Amino acid sequence: MLQRNKIDAKAQCDRPIVVLGATGTVGGAVLDALSRCGVEIRAVARRVPGAAGREATTVGWLVADLAVPSSLDRALAGAGALFLLTPLEEAMPERVAAVAARARAAGIDRVVRLSAYGAGTAQTLLGRVHREAEQAVLAAGLEMVALRPNGFMQNYVTQLGHGIRAHGLITSPQGSGAVSLVDARDVAAVAAACLTGAPAPVDDLTGPVALDEAAVAACISRVSGRAVRYQPTSMAAAARALADIGLPAWLRAVILDLYALSADGGAARVTAAVEAVLGRPPARFEDFARHARAHWMAPAGSA
Ligand SMILES: NC(=O)c1ccc[n+]([C@@H]2O[C@H](COP(=O)([O-])OP(=O)(O)OC[C@H]3O[C@@H](n4cnc5c(N)ncnc54)[C@H](OP(=O)(O)O)[C@@H]3O)[C@@H](O)[C@H]2O)c1
Repeated sequence: MLQRNKIDAKAQCDRPIVVLGATGTVGGAVLDALSRCGVEIRAVARRVPGAAGREATTVGWLVADLAVPSSLDRALAGAGALFLLTPLEEAMPERVAAVAARARAAGIDRVVRLSAYGAGTAQTLLGRVHREAEQAVLAAGLEMVALRPNGFMQNYVTQLGHGIRAHGLITSPQGSGAVSLVDARDVAAVAAACLTGAPAPVDDLTGPVALDEAAVAACISRVSGRAVRYQPTSMAAAARALADIGLPAWLRAVILDLYALSADGGAARVTAAVEAVLGRPPARFEDFARHARAHWMAPAGSA
């Protein structure tokens, strides 16, 4: 499949591909995946990495801020495709509408948008905001592939990593609800395939099985060699913890809504969408854990 991507990319990507959110979890992995295809890439973020993070010669870095849509024009000019990632915030649909308008004006003809699990049914706050953002891309008259991944395995490093490193604990109100976690690198590989011509996935992107928090903790313990356990907490305690770290009310509501969905088993659906695009099964949590184990072994505060 990688070889097929290479051929597709050469045949179809005669113009550069723009990657928004290029320093983040998914965007960084999209750069990696596209770099292997040999296409010209324009990587965009508010701060570009230092020389050590810029090995790939096919990647040109550009600074832009979604809050100032005209700052994207230099990146979009003459490009053929756009990986459209925006941070999770209440203003996401307006942000996306502004980017889409500029992409349309620049002559972009392929948009791959990072959306989220549940945007199809829009039953959660997260699904609704992503659904509105998807509609904003279509309303701008652009052709769009929407990628709708479930929770990233990487959240156990980025969001929950501190609790694991400092206390050996995963704390949440998710209880025994399982989630079909997906490796963000698989999401990125699907994005790269779609940016270079592969057909859109027909379903949400998930990992191969649904795991509850206790199973995730057991896997991290097994792979890292350090004891990690799941400590259930109440919704009220989770709400207080989110307020204590200063998250805005809307984002707190989104996260609590997701906890409720997951606790009820509503995020456990497993799909074949990753394999249908990549021609191989999605990564297992255990595979991800082996890759990430150093993050959990590092002293608290070091990552
Ligand atoms: N985490 C999950 O489990 C999950 C699951 C499904 C969908 N999603 C969706 O995935 C998206 C987040 O992706 P991610 O986790 O890869 O993000 P991330 O790691 O938080 O990275 C965000 C990226 O966006 C850039 N950025 C932030 N604000 C910007 C601005 N104003 N202008 C330009 N660039 C900006 C950041 O770089 P700078 O800060 O340098 O600008 C960074 O490159 C959200 O839409 C979320 O809803 C997440």
